[in-house]
Amino acid sequence: MANEALLSVDKLNAWYERSHVLQGVSFEVRAGEVVSLIGRNGAGKTTALKSIMGLLDRTTGSVRFDGTELLPQPAHARYHRGLAFVFEERRIVPGLSVLENIELGLMATAGGLARMHEVVDGIAETFPRLKERLHQEAVTLSGGEQQMLAIARAMAAAPKMVMLDEPSEGIMPRLVEEMFEYFEGLKNKGVTILLVEQSVEQALKISDRAYIMDQGRIVHEGPARALLDDVEMQERYCSV
Ligand SMILES: Nc1ncnc2c1ncn2[C@@H]1O[C@H](COP(=O)(O)OP(=O)(O)OP(=O)(O)O)[C@@H](O)[C@H]1O
Ligand SMILES: [Mg+2]
Repeated sequence: MANEALLSVDKLNAWYERSHVLQGVSFEVRAGEVVSLIGRNGAGKTTALKSIMGLLDRTTGSVRFDGTELLPQPAHARYHRGLAFVFEERRIVPGLSVLENIELGLMATAGGLARMHEVVDGIAETFPRLKERLHQEAVTLSGGEQQMLAIARAMAAAPKMVMLDEPSEGIMPRLVEEMFEYFEGLKNKGVTILLVEQSVEQALKISDRAYIMDQGRIVHEGPARALLDDVEMQERYCSV
């Protein structure tokens, strides 16, 4: 595993209107790592991901990604630098088929459509239930399948790092198992992942390291394995 930071967040502050939500958040994700950002409801996890992606009006501090300062850049420029974000609310495009949703992910990248066959084959292999439904309207998929599609679409662009916000939320347990197996596969391929997940135990099991957020600050960091054994810490910061 490479040791240099792919993403380096330093003293990040973020506001909604006058509400100062992120208060000097610093953390890093090294190339090839899976890192979990955990914390109870309202801790600021989604706000952190949105700030990194460039979706908030007011942020200060520093977000360096792959050697470049991102904060002055708009979201689409960050996306083109290889940063992908799968939202809590999945953003499947209505009126488009499963295949067209995937194409949309590819279109956004240079030379992406040339990789169409390869990408669709890969997705079909990983998500057999999407393969059977390639020509179906994406909105007819179940919640879990739509989430798989959102993730597949993000990965189709071959990002350098993907940020996932509560991917297992509202999804039946069997699909959650499949999803985590898929993440494990991505990890084994060296994909860098920043993961926010309420299923803390499952998240920690596939993570290298974790940061705990509370009230807009990072309050703890450590190897995921150590946190997995630290019931007291989990109860203190992760229960809702
Ligand atoms: N659009 C918004 N406008 C104003 N305040 C917001 C907005 N979105 C979030 N907040 C506030 O910012 C704080 C952090 O919210 P955030 O959504 O980042 O938390 P979270 O850790 O993702 O929580 P959850 O686990 O519930 O998803 C909370 O106090 C929340 O009420
Ligand atoms: Mg959230």
